[in-house]
Parts: sequence; structure tokens; C-alpha cells
Amino acid sequence: MVCMENIKQLCYDNKIILAPMVRINTLPMRLLALDYGADIVYTEELIDHRLIRCYRKVNETLQSIDYIDKSDATVVFRTCSREKAYVVLQIGTSDPERAAKAAQVVEQDVAGIDINMGCPKDFSLKGGMGAALLFNPDKACAILSAVVSAVKIPVTCKIRVLEDIDDTVALCKKLAATGVAAIGVHGRIIKERPIHPNRNHFIKAISEALNIPVIANGGSKEIKAFEDIIKFKNVTGCSSVMIARTAEKNCSIFKKDGKLDLFTVIRDYLHHAVDYDNVAPNSKYCIQNMLQNIQETEQGRLFLESTSLQQICDLWELGDYCRQKQKKMNYLRFEERDVACN
Ligand code: FNR
Repeated sequence: MVCMENIKQLCYDNKIILAPMVRINTLPMRLLALDYGADIVYTEELIDHRLIRCYRKVNETLQSIDYIDKSDATVVFRTCSREKAYVVLQIGTSDPERAAKAAQVVEQDVAGIDINMGCPKDFSLKGGMGAALLFNPDKACAILSAVVSAVKIPVTCKIRVLEDIDDTVALCKKLAATGVAAIGVHGRIIKERPIHPNRNHFIKAISEALNIPVIANGGSKEIKAFEDIIKFKNVTGCSSVMIARTAEKNCSIFKKDGKLDLFTVIRDYLHHAVDYDNVAPNSKYCIQNMLQNIQETEQGRLFLESTSLQQICDLWELGDYCRQKQKKMNYLRFEERDVACN
């Protein structure tokens, strides 16, 4: 497969990718995945309505770009120059016009746009989003065509498979005809959970039938080491692979020379969380998902009681780093306010 590598046009061929995960894939986790060797990082799913309500702000203190919801002043999407060439923003949508508008809102700060066509949650299905689109191919294609025409950056979609292999291949051919740059395929049907085997042969059939890159997904249960990523790639016949749950537990899975211990991974994560002033509840949630049952130790108990980033950092011997950074940020914020007043 021919794919021109250049910084402006993201290439999806032969890539190892951090798959989208709600609440997990905020900026610190995406930067961590890039540090460890991921080639592309997806954001969590962001709903079109919310993105359309956002305004863009250059955050001088953090050296980030923030998209802030006008209705409640929350940061919906924070990004920075380090990830600009590698970050794909995933949109949850049920409407072509809204999807196109949402994509245009963020276009200048991301490398690609993805449309979620695989989420099996009630919230998505009832709103005609996520996996509901698999059963409404005309709507799915209209959304993709609208976004492809609206933006200059590549557009992809991420689907689940249908019960029948031929129906799945036929659907993928329709989706590919809209001009998408790649399709991510999670090899499970809507009602299947992670305990069910991933239908790798479905992904292989899709990959053989399409002439755009297919990104294999759903292999986390069998991915324990970097070599397993390559095995998953080979068994699905895809050139690219997308990993969610294994990376959620230990993001250093992307390291070619082997995984790091959890203590190091959490410290590396916390550096980014502090540097980009990530909110404490989100940082805590991400670390909780790394720790799993280690939370039952004394350190785990203290961690569960923590409410600020400072307290969390203290537990991983980063207390001084956090204090110094926060002090510097407060000073810069004060200076910024001062300049604005003069
Ligand atoms: C997900 N997944 C997901 N998928 C998606 O398209 N958008 C999303 O926002 C999310 N959110 C999300 C959160 C969490 C905590 C998990 C574990 C998963 C699904 C994910 O991207 C992937 O398709 C599946 O987890 C299967 O891949 P793995 O885990 O076997 O690598």
C-alpha cells in the first residue's frame, strides 16, 4: 500500500495507535503514549453538540490550546504543539451537518478526525450515534461525506463488525467510498463484551477487500507484550493496529524494548498531568485504571483518599515537582492577568 509520509497529511499505514477511550485519553495519556512509541493517538469521543459550543483559547501559561464550552466554561479538549501532527479527534454524532461543523471547530489543531460508529452504550444508540450508524449506512455515509468535504485533514471512522462477515465487508466498502483515509475495526458485534473472542477473520476479510488502510482493534486480551501487537497485526492482515485496554492498564506497551513497571509509568503520567494542569478527578481516574486491585495496599488506600493533584504526586515522590510547577503557573497566571489589566 502506497502512503506518502509527510507532517501535513497523516498516514494511517503501518501504524501503532492509541485507541479512543472516554475519560482516559485526555492530553496526559496521549502524550505518554507518544513518549512510549505510539505513532498516532486518538482522543476520547467528544460529542458534536459540545464541540460546536466551544471557543478556542491559547493558554499562555500552559502553552496549550484549549477548547472551552461557552455554556459552563469547562475545558472540553486541551491539546499542544507536541501532539499536533499525531492526534486524531473522535466525534460522536448522528447528523452530517453538525459533524462537519464540529470537525471545522478543531481542524486547525488536530491531524485527523474520526467518527465513532462503534459505541454500543445506550446513550449513543438512543441518540442515533455510535453503533446505531452501522444499521443506517446511508446516514453513516452522509456523515462521512459531509466531514470529508468540510475539512482538509484526513477523516476516518471506527466501527464494530456486524453478525455476518459479507454484510460487514459490504458496509466497509460503502464507507470507504466516501473518501475516508482509513477504517478502524473492532472485531466484536454490538452485544459482545471483551470476554468474547475478537473476530479477527472478519478484520482480515475487510483488510483484503479494501484499498485503504484498515486498523485492527479488539486484541487487548491477547496483547501482553510488544511482540503480541505484531502477532495481532499479522493475524488480522492489517498494517495498523489500535490498542485500548492494554494501554489503559500500562501505556508502556507501545515501547519496542519492553514494558516499564507501573510505578515508573504512573510517575511519567503524572509529569504530563502536572505540566498541563490536568484536573485531579480525571488524573485519579486514569491512575485508578492502571492500579486496578493494587488499590488494596496502604499506598492504594492513601491514593483513594487523595483529592488534589498535589496529594497524588506526593504518593509517587513527585510532590516537590508538583509544588514548584503549580507555583510557577500561579505566578504566570498572575502576570497574564496583570498584562490584561494594563
Ligand atoms: C473504550 N472504547 C471506545 N471506543 C470509541 O470508539 N470511543 C470511545 O470513546 C471509547 N471509549 C472507551 C473507554 C474505555 C475505558 C474502554 C476500555 C474502551 C473502545 C475501545 O476504543 C476499543 O474499541 C475496545 O476497547 C477494544 O479494543 P481493545 O481494548 O481490545 O484494545
